[in-house]
Amino acid sequence: MRQLTLFEDKIDNREYITQNFSAGDNVMDSFMGSGTSALVCQMRGINSIGYDIMPFSAVAIKAKSNVLRYDISELQTLIKNFSALKMPETYSARTPYVTITDSAYPEFNERFIMFATDWIAQSRYSDELKNLFTLCVLNSLEWCSYTTKDGQYLRWDSRAAKVINANIERKKFGRKLLPAHQCREVVENIQSAVADELNHILSDIKFVQANACENFSATVDFTEGSALFELPKLEEKILDGVITSPPYCNRYDYTRIYALELVYLGYGEDDIKNLRQDLLSCTVESKSKISSLMKHYERLNASERFCYVLGKINSNLAFQEIMAALTERKTRGDLNNNGVIRMVEGYFTELAFVYAELYRLCKDGAIVAVVNDNVRYGGEIISVDYLSTSFAEQFVFKPVKIYCLRQQKGNSSRQMKKFGRTALRKSITRWQK
Ligand SMILES: C[S@@+](CC[C@H](N)C(=O)[O-])C[C@H]1O[C@@H](n2cnc3c(N)ncnc32)[C@H](O)[C@@H]1O
Repeated sequence: MRQLTLFEDKIDNREYITQNFSAGDNVMDSFMGSGTSALVCQMRGINSIGYDIMPFSAVAIKAKSNVLRYDISELQTLIKNFSALKMPETYSARTPYVTITDSAYPEFNERFIMFATDWIAQSRYSDELKNLFTLCVLNSLEWCSYTTKDGQYLRWDSRAAKVINANIERKKFGRKLLPAHQCREVVENIQSAVADELNHILSDIKFVQANACENFSATVDFTEGSALFELPKLEEKILDGVITSPPYCNRYDYTRIYALELVYLGYGEDDIKNLRQDLLSCTVESKSKISSLMKHYERLNASERFCYVLGKINSNLAFQEIMAALTERKTRGDLNNNGVIRMVEGYFTELAFVYAELYRLCKDGAIVAVVNDNVRYGGEIISVDYLSTSFAEQFVFKPVKIYCLRQQKGNSSRQMKKFGRTALRKSITRWQK
C-alpha cells in the first residue's frame, strides 16, 4: 500500500519525546532519516540537532521544518498549474540514470520527471515550495517505476527493458530466464502521483498550521553528513537528550535501495559508490573507517580521545566473543558472505565511537534512547541491544532499561532453512549520563 508522507506518525517516538523532554531542551537525533523525531520535537518546542548522510533527508527535513511558512494559496496554485501541465510530444529530455537504475521508468514517466523538474526550476514559486515539490517527486519515484524496495536491494519488474533484454541474452545462451515478476499491477503515472502527494501534504499543512502551538518556534539544526565525523567536532555537554535509530547491522544498502532518489538528486555512479562507503558499516562492501577516523581526530587535536575510545572497543569482551563466534561460523562455512565479518566489526566499532561522542555531548542526567534490531548471521544471533549497552557502560552511561518492542523480526529464508527459526528482538535501549 502506498504511503503518502510528510508527517507520518511514529507513536513510540512521539510518546517518548512527550514524556522525557520539555520545551527549550536540546535533543539530538544522530541519524535523522526523514526527520520524524525532529518534527515531533519541534511541535513540542524542543530544539533538535542532527545528521544524516542521505541527501533526501535534507529535502524531507527542510520540508517538515518549513511547515508554518507555507503559503496555502501559493501551494494550491502550484497544484492547479502542475496538474494542468501538458508535456509536448516533442519533449525528449530524460531523467538521468546510472547502471542500477537504467530503464527503471516507463517511457512517459522517464520524460515527465525531467519535464516537471525543468518546470519547477524555471518557475517563480518560493524556495520552500520548490523544496516541497522535490520531496513529492522523491516520494513518488518508486511508485512510478518498475522497481520496488525489497530488503537489501531494489527488486525489478519483468516489464522493465533491463529485464527483457537480460532475458533475450539468457535465451540466446540457453540460460535460465529471470522469473516473471510484477512489482505493482499498475505503474503509476508520475504526474498524478505527484499531484496526489501534493494534495495530501496540503491537507497535512493546513492541519498543522491550524493547530500549531506557540512552542513551534523551536529550531531544527540539520547537517547533511556523517555522524561519525560530525559529532567529534561539537562542544561537550550541549544535549539534554538523544533519541535516535542508527542504520541496522542488516546489510541494508541505502545507496541501492534509494538509488532512484539519489540519481534524481544528481548523484552519479562514483558519488553513489563513495556515499556507500560513508554509511555506517552496514553492507558487506563497507571498508574499515578506522584510519580516516584516526586522521580526523588528529586534525581536531583529539587523538587522545580517539585512543581512549578505541582502547575501550578493543577491550570489550562481549564484542570479542561475537567476533570469535562469527569467525568460527566462517570456518565452518556457515556464512554466505565473508564480508559479514568486516561489516559487523566495522558496524560496532563505528557505533561505539558514536556512543562515546554522545556521552561527551550529553549534559549530566541526559537520557539517550536508541532504537535497533538484533540480527543473525550464519545462525549466530547478535544481540545488538546488549552489545550496544555494554559499550555504553564502558563510556560510563548508566543502563536504564531495554524495552523489547512487541513486533519482532523474522529471519531470512536462508537462515531459517539452515538454522531454524528464532524471532529477533527489536528494542529501544535507554541509558543515562
Ligand atoms: C534507521 S534509519 C533512521 C530513521 C529515522 N529515525 C526516521 O524516522 O526516518 C538510519 C539512518 O541513518 C542514516 N545513516 C547511515 N549512515 C550514516 C552516517 N554515517 N551518518 C549519519 N547518518 C547515517 C541513513 O541514511 C538512515 O537515514
